[in-house]
Amino acid sequence: MTKQMVTASILFLLALLPGAQSAYTPANDAPAYTADGSLVAPAHYREWIYLTSGIDMSYTAQAGTADHSMFDNVFVNPTSYRSFLATGTWPDQTTMVLEVRGAENPLSINKRGHTQSPEIMGIEIHVKDHGAWRFYDLNGNDKAAKLIPPPAPCYTCHQAHGAVDTTFVQFYPTLLPLAKQKKTLSPEYLKELTTPAQVAPGAAK
Ligand code: HEC
Repeated sequence: MTKQMVTASILFLLALLPGAQSAYTPANDAPAYTADGSLVAPAHYREWIYLTSGIDMSYTAQAGTADHSMFDNVFVNPTSYRSFLATGTWPDQTTMVLEVRGAENPLSINKRGHTQSPEIMGIEIHVKDHGAWRFYDLNGNDKAAKLIPPPAPCYTCHQAHGAVDTTFVQFYPTLLPLAKQKKTLSPEYLKELTTPAQVAPGAAK
């Protein structure tokens, strides 16, 4: 072993020690809580798996009255994503983050269409733990996200319309084909589909 190799090995072993500087690895992406039942803000969610971006989504047919346009970006912790790839559904200790940003236009060389604001307008979190899903709201730079206790519209809408296990997999393009393949789509979602082709495009042979 050269001196450099010895140094590299020692540094590697040090990094494995609990409390070492690089404490974050995708392996420790499980939810953590404060004493009062709030969720410790998932500081590294931007290094998690990206699922989708929606722009100006609205859940009523009426034209929106909102005076500003917004994007939402959805992320999930890597451990649960890998589990979904294998099973088509979410394991315990899944954390999903919905981050809201302003839609900007025009900016720099962009003349049409929208880009995302550096400012975050809000962060909402959906956590499955001990078999139950809970919603949390993260305010500004807070270190912990507050529980939104059930019943609340969050729970009702996600339960009634989420394609897999109260989550909106119908809008997550890398996951929907898997859920179809593994037949994990919720009865609520399947009931909403009006044509068989929407259930599994290309499946009718
Ligand atoms: C009327 C229906 C509706 C209500 C009410 C609602 N949501 Fe959602 N939620 C959605 C849809 C649709 C998506 C998918 C967003 C996308 O595709 O970008 C979503 C996605 C999410 C996600 C991403 C993970 C997932 O479960 O798919 C989180 C987190 C979330 N919502 C939190 C909340 C919180 C917190 C509330 C209550 C304050 C709430 N939602 C209320 C419809 C709803």
